Amino acid sequence: MQFCAAGVDDAAQVDHLLDKCFGIDRHQRTAYLLRRGAQAIAGPTMVVREHGQIIASVQYWPVALVDDAGRQFTLTLLGPIGVSPDQRGRGIGVELMHKSLAVADALGCGPVVLIGDVEYYTRFGFRADATADWRLPGPVEQHRVLLRNPGRVNLPKVARLLACADAYIAAPTV
Ligand SMILES: CC(C)(COP(=O)(O)OP(=O)(O)OC[C@H]1O[C@@H](n2cnc3c(N)ncnc32)[C@H](O)[C@@H]1OP(=O)(O)O)[C@@H](O)C(=O)NCCC(=O)NCCS
Repeated sequence: MQFCAAGVDDAAQVDHLLDKCFGIDRHQRTAYLLRRGAQAIAGPTMVVREHGQIIASVQYWPVALVDDAGRQFTLTLLGPIGVSPDQRGRGIGVELMHKSLAVADALGCGPVVLIGDVEYYTRFGFRADATADWRLPGPVEQHRVLLRNPGRVNLPKVARLLACADAYIAAPTV
């Protein structure tokens, strides 16, 4: 099994894998609105290959956090992470999380946010308390908005999480 940075040639296989993991209507999800117009971050965006097939994938994206005063912070969005249904429970998801977060940290990606089950992501340092008053561009269960901020970057308590492409529109004019 190989864990490696995703390449452009992997896109079709990754899409197929994510359709199997999340369904073909996955693009309607709020997490996808946060990636609008963005490019995945090279390095922590990884795939797992076995016997020539991609059996798992994780993606990272730049997103913007904007407070009421219009101050903007760049965060990194993790997701989706998906492991092929017939490969689950082998520890691949946990290993992919650890490896990709290590790359993200080494590249200085800063605080990482995701939408997911706190029961799964606590082990990687994600918590829901700092994000309770963050608003997202679509419907979300607030307790599933999780943040990992090992560098203790000072972030606003009340803020909007947006696609970087939308943060310029959202910023107040002076
Ligand atoms: C979530 C997912 C990535 C985990 O991958 P995996 O390779 O099966 O997970 P691992 O084998 O590395 O880890 C298994 C551990 O995670 C736990 N786990 C898996 N999914 C979980 C969930 N949704 N909530 C809580 N714990 C979960 C397992 O119970 C197991 O716990 P243990 O280590 O205490 O035994 C995979 O199940 C998946 O692709 N699911 C569908 C897509 C999805 O929901 N992605 C996450 C949201 S972005």
